[in-house]
Amino acid sequence: MAHKLVAQKLAQIGQSGVLRFYDDLEVAGKEKIMMQLESLDLAMIAELIETQVKTKAAIALPQDIQPAQAYARTPQGEQKEFYAKARARGEELLNQGKVAAFLVAGGQGTRLGYDGPKGEYPVTPVKNKPLFQVFAEQLLGRARTHGKPIPWYVMTSDANDAASRAFFHRHGYFGYNEDDVFFFQQGMMPAFGFNGEMLLVEDDSLALSPDGHGGSLRALYKSGALADMQKRGIEHLSYFQVDNPLVQCIDPLFIGLHDLTGSEMSSKTVRKAAALEKVGNFCIADGRLQVIEYSDLPEELAKSANPDGSLRFNAGSIAIHALRVSFIDRLNAGGHLSLPWHRAEKKVPYVNAKGVTIKPEKPNAVKLEQFVFDAIPLAENPIVYETDRAEEFSPVKNAEGPDSPDTCRRDQVRRACRWLEAAGVTDIPKLNNEPDCNLEISPLYAVSKDQLVAKKPRMVAIKSGQSVYVEK
Ligand code: UD1
Repeated sequence: MAHKLVAQKLAQIGQSGVLRFYDDLEVAGKEKIMMQLESLDLAMIAELIETQVKTKAAIALPQDIQPAQAYARTPQGEQKEFYAKARARGEELLNQGKVAAFLVAGGQGTRLGYDGPKGEYPVTPVKNKPLFQVFAEQLLGRARTHGKPIPWYVMTSDANDAASRAFFHRHGYFGYNEDDVFFFQQGMMPAFGFNGEMLLVEDDSLALSPDGHGGSLRALYKSGALADMQKRGIEHLSYFQVDNPLVQCIDPLFIGLHDLTGSEMSSKTVRKAAALEKVGNFCIADGRLQVIEYSDLPEELAKSANPDGSLRFNAGSIAIHALRVSFIDRLNAGGHLSLPWHRAEKKVPYVNAKGVTIKPEKPNAVKLEQFVFDAIPLAENPIVYETDRAEEFSPVKNAEGPDSPDTCRRDQVRRACRWLEAAGVTDIPKLNNEPDCNLEISPLYAVSKDQLVAKKPRMVAIKSGQSVYVEK
């Protein structure tokens, strides 16, 4: 019965081809492709084929692109009082249990050469803790400070959902209360041939891939996560990506600034490492705050300088956001998430009409993804707050070179060293001004420099080359 309805819908949109092998499939195969098709919004797909696949409707670049202003990292003058109020407000919201954490972990560690969910990747310098554990312990530390549990929403993908859940389970949720971790899967989109046809990767399977981290805002709604937040009285969501262990999963000052300014979606920025660094750029484009990806910002703009020589476009996106729950609800009104789609031409293996698998040598397909930062121009009063790269951003993206496990461990050790020195540990061995030892601070002991300073850690002298785990 379900089959007939789906077949009818497919016929209406000229996509019956995906069922060409259906009659010869085993029962399991029939169920598989039906489930895939039923999870898709076929009416929306029909529209996208016309507007995004058959035509190269690249998202038009805005006419007028200006640099965005950010709230300063260190407040000056009158701003100091406002920042103090914001920090207190953020803490109050945490004390009231009104802030939840939101991790997007849809990707695999492919670029790292790791065959599994990226969150499993061991990343810390002394204990080799996986990324998931780093976040879990930090959130636990934060929750203890504020005396309220912090619900944690974790978005996975079809490829890594089971493995991610099993990993948490095997590790006893890293001490987290199982009821406070809410896993859900992101949506999938089919790949399309240039003629608009949905591609099959097997006789019984569409060529599906994740719909981008922007899809997380739809998945929150469809999975019931949003309803769960509303039931728990959550007002704000702190969004972060799986690849950055330096992230403050929840930062009271940032949440407070976001709340007090009435912002529906706020973002953290750092100064760019170089004009063409591969990060999104915060801009005021045609009058609205938005992120323009490094690949879309015209090079002459990316390289343009202020009279003092500094970069004009110097606000890089580190993919850390705060979102109001009511905003996510509004974005999903009417059952459609109103974010643009980004089109990419890719090589996608597929089964042709004769049932032969083709491995293309050049791009043969269109993939469509949504990006979470495209929600910013739809938000009321969106703000950007500048933070310190050394303190908060060192992602693990590549196996070697920049943004690799090596640079990330180095940056974790440097940060631990700075925190310890601020807390009065003055005799850390150095070589060429770099810590000449391996340092790691347990987030269960201190989640921030201020907390470590307050703890006044008493440590025995550290020797050159020694590995030290600070937990009391
Ligand atoms: C991304 C941002 C870039 C930002 C940089 C900071 C995009 C397009 N660009 O680049 O502006 O400066 O991070 O590190 O996002 N993910 C999903 N589902 C998906 C796709 C991605 O969950 O369908 C998650 C991944 O698990 C990861 C994160 O989103 O946590 C980032 O995705 P990735 O594709 O690695 O983005 P970057 O190109 O590194």
